[in-house]
Amino acid sequence: MTCARILAAALAASSLAHAAINEPPLAKGFGPSQDVAKSRAPQIFNAVNNAMRQWGSSLHHNGMSFYLATVPEGVIFHHGNDNETSPEGPEWLAYEIEHAEGFARGRRGPPGRGPPGGGPPPPGDDHGPPPDDEEKLPSGKPKVQSQFDLVIMREEGRKQHTMVHEPSAESPGATDDMEGKGGWLHSYRTTRSLRYLYVDGMSGGKTSMGTLDTQDYLLRGDKTTSYTMEKPPHMGKRAGGPMDERRRAFELCEMCYYWDLSGVIRMEAGFEIIHCDFKDGLEQIAALQRPDPKDGEHGRGGSVGNFEFIRALSERYDGIGSSRTAIDFSSMVSAFFYPVNLTNPDPKRPDLPRLANTTDAELAAIKADLNRVIYERHDSYNRTIVWQDVTDLIVARYADRLKYMTEKVSSASQLLDEINHLVTAHIDYSGKDVDRIPSAIIRCTDLYLHGISPQTEADQFIHAAIKSVTSEICTKLFEARGILVDGSTDGHGLEPLAPSDALNTVRSLVEYLGWARFKRCSQCDVDEVCMIPMWPFGTKEDYESPRCANSSSVRGDGENYWGGFGRPGGPGGRPGGGRGGRGPPPP
Ligand SMILES: *[C@@H]1O[C@H](CO)[C@@H](O)[C@H](O)[C@H]1NC(C)=O
Ligand SMILES: *[C@@H]1O[C@H](CO)[C@@H](O)[C@H](O)[C@H]1NC(C)=O
Ligand SMILES: *[C@@H]1O[C@H](CO)[C@@H](O)[C@H](O)[C@H]1NC(C)=O
Ligand SMILES: *[C@@H]1O[C@H](CO)[C@@H](O)[C@H](O)[C@H]1NC(C)=O
Ligand SMILES: *[C@@H]1O[C@H](CO)[C@@H](O)[C@H](O)[C@H]1NC(C)=O
Repeated sequence: MTCARILAAALAASSLAHAAINEPPLAKGFGPSQDVAKSRAPQIFNAVNNAMRQWGSSLHHNGMSFYLATVPEGVIFHHGNDNETSPEGPEWLAYEIEHAEGFARGRRGPPGRGPPGGGPPPPGDDHGPPPDDEEKLPSGKPKVQSQFDLVIMREEGRKQHTMVHEPSAESPGATDDMEGKGGWLHSYRTTRSLRYLYVDGMSGGKTSMGTLDTQDYLLRGDKTTSYTMEKPPHMGKRAGGPMDERRRAFELCEMCYYWDLSGVIRMEAGFEIIHCDFKDGLEQIAALQRPDPKDGEHGRGGSVGNFEFIRALSERYDGIGSSRTAIDFSSMVSAFFYPVNLTNPDPKRPDLPRLANTTDAELAAIKADLNRVIYERHDSYNRTIVWQDVTDLIVARYADRLKYMTEKVSSASQLLDEINHLVTAHIDYSGKDVDRIPSAIIRCTDLYLHGISPQTEADQFIHAAIKSVTSEICTKLFEARGILVDGSTDGHGLEPLAPSDALNTVRSLVEYLGWARFKRCSQCDVDEVCMIPMWPFGTKEDYESPRCANSSSVRGDGENYWGGFGRPGGPGGRPGGGRGGRGPPPP
């Protein structure tokens, strides 16, 4: 059954209706290659290094890659809603309890335990009714409430408004029976190993910046309509939730059925899983009603709760922790491996890849490869090569030292000392080496790649990418060293250093690498966290220059990084209005 399902999906993939009207056909021999992987080496390196990490995936938020991932037996997840009864799914599971808590509220109840800054609540929410009876939706009984309805924004005059983006008919007045009552916080444990598809980047971020590209363009294959905040892919037959989130979940789960996977792992402000069938693989261990939010005594709202939510997320900056999820890196399928145009049509953000300019035929071909990889590696639970560990060793060796060189070193001799420390270990001083430096560069490049034998196609591409990155590091460092050594033997004084070619060489290396670690704050105090935008929170400033902030110094009034949250008037919210920044919650 299982195999038949997956095979059927693989076969169907080639004909998956990417209605290619006037679209160029697939170039002959189109496919992933090592050359392409090398040309996008830093992006691939970073994707691997950031996988299942809140920090790097927030910075490099347009994910272009998929992996199979396993959640072992006994892992605890949470879901918040307005009902004592466990949902059936597809529904959202949160890795962090704070994440689900924001959704554990009675229908139309006042805010208080929502995520910081009054952004839309995270998973576990009712994201709208199921899409199967879309015709009836608008006039149907408002069974569940749209995520938008929960978003409480602070309008001028300190008046609370519910930001309703859905057709108002969808939730006319909603039901008042739960008004003011606390919702429910459900907890589950996995009863067996579960296989998921991990969609990397800020893939739970309902934005038009490209965070949904792999889901909406590649998996769902909807490029016939270009979507924006106001115009999601299935405009006119929306199923609820921001940017048609509920329909997205249903469609992804339909695919998961054919792939024999339990759902999809994504990230927003917190990692989440769209779990397709709550009766499968989960055991409910608690369903606790939350206090009436009007009963302030028991509430956990306010700035403490909001700040502590961010703190909970910051604990996952470097990984989801405790072996809660294992990624099969050898199953990686990435648009970065393919000769497709990933240029962002938005000239202001050339750093962010997009699938907006790939053709339907290309997208269908990548999806067909994904289908095949899922089929081939479905039962390969053992991770053959943990590529992330390899990237971690490299980042640990170089990141802080490179940053130190570019930011703190003040003399040429200091710079030379620092570089020498990193590279001279690879030089053979015996005199046997004719090409002393070129041989040293090769040894330096291969330092962490010895003994790794790529097995899958993905392994080959990742290996090629990592090797390109280490080769660049070693080449550039030896180059800078050469400049400094020549400078000193010339008898030219080494000071002052800047502007110096050696330093510029190191700077260009740092720019090439683009490691998320470079943007990390140094150690924050116990009442602070290092702030980075995590959908739907955060300001543009937080993205440009993350810093340690405490509960009162978080930037609440800057312009929301994500372009505001889908207001009918346009994606930007009110111009310069600072909607959805991480301000304190409405009083
Ligand atoms: C809770 O869920 C049950 C079972 O799905 C349903 O019958 C009931 O109407 C729900 N209650 C509310 C308040 O939504
Ligand atoms: C790639 O896409 C960008 C952005 O849409 C476009 O400007 C550029 O012309 C495209 N390049 C090619 C080679 O098609
Ligand atoms: C590429 O982007 C340009 C500009 O955004 C657009 O006009 C063109 O149709 C896109 N091509 C494809 C294949 O999507
Ligand atoms: C993978 O795991 C299975 C079962 O745990 C084991 O039999 C097999 O040898 C492993 N394969 C590799 C390549 O480690
Ligand atoms: C938060 O940090 C600011 C600036 O560093 C400081 O002035 C303020 O006292 C701190 N507030 C709290 C509550 O610790």
